[in-house]
Amino acid sequence: MKIVFATGNIGKLREASEILGEGFELVSLAQAGIEEDIPETGNTLRANSLQKAQYLYDKLGCDCFADDTGLEVDALGGAPGVYTARYAGEGKDFNANMDKVLYELSVIEGEAHMAEEFGLKTKPVSRRARFKSVVTLIIDGKIKMFEGTLEGEIAREKSGNGGFGYDPIFIADEYPGLTLADISEDEKNAISHRGKALRAMAQWLQENR
Ligand code: IMP
Repeated sequence: MKIVFATGNIGKLREASEILGEGFELVSLAQAGIEEDIPETGNTLRANSLQKAQYLYDKLGCDCFADDTGLEVDALGGAPGVYTARYAGEGKDFNANMDKVLYELSVIEGEAHMAEEFGLKTKPVSRRARFKSVVTLIIDGKIKMFEGTLEGEIAREKSGNGGFGYDPIFIADEYPGLTLADISEDEKNAISHRGKALRAMAQWLQENR
């Protein structure tokens, strides 16, 4: 089936095509003639995912889906969360976003270390984190949402050349010692947040269409 995917990110488009397989022909925003940035003003991943899909449906009136993904780092109180795409500020690249996460964790660890030197008891700083994806599908004018989560931890430094976004600093529980940028695309897709959400969408479509 032909369906528009609300992304301008080539990495995401390729991943989604791989995950959904041959039954789907994905149309990118550029191919659908959407040149403007789609507004993302919600306070949650669900709200942003819905907003993007709804925007596209209102404009094009055809079957479409959008995803919104966030990285939650426990020691940062769940940040970057909905600010994942622009954590280091508007227009900054992914190295800056990753550097900010690594820096903030190092500051928290430094503070804990200092407290110990002053004889205070501290708990080891957790590097636990997770990616969450929410996919919103609008099909025949009806809305359906799917979610996927990938648990892991933040690496001490960047590693790997694959993937995109925060992949070089995220170590999934399934691949200890390797970041998502160190493993292959197929390995990532089999476990990823977006893989889980998109496979749930594909299964729903198979059963309901
Ligand atoms: P979006 O809102 O879904 O576009 O994603 C928010 C930000 O998270 C984007 O800037 C992405 O680069 C980043 N991101 C989304 N998915 C992944 C992933 O699978 N790995 C690493 N970073 C990701």
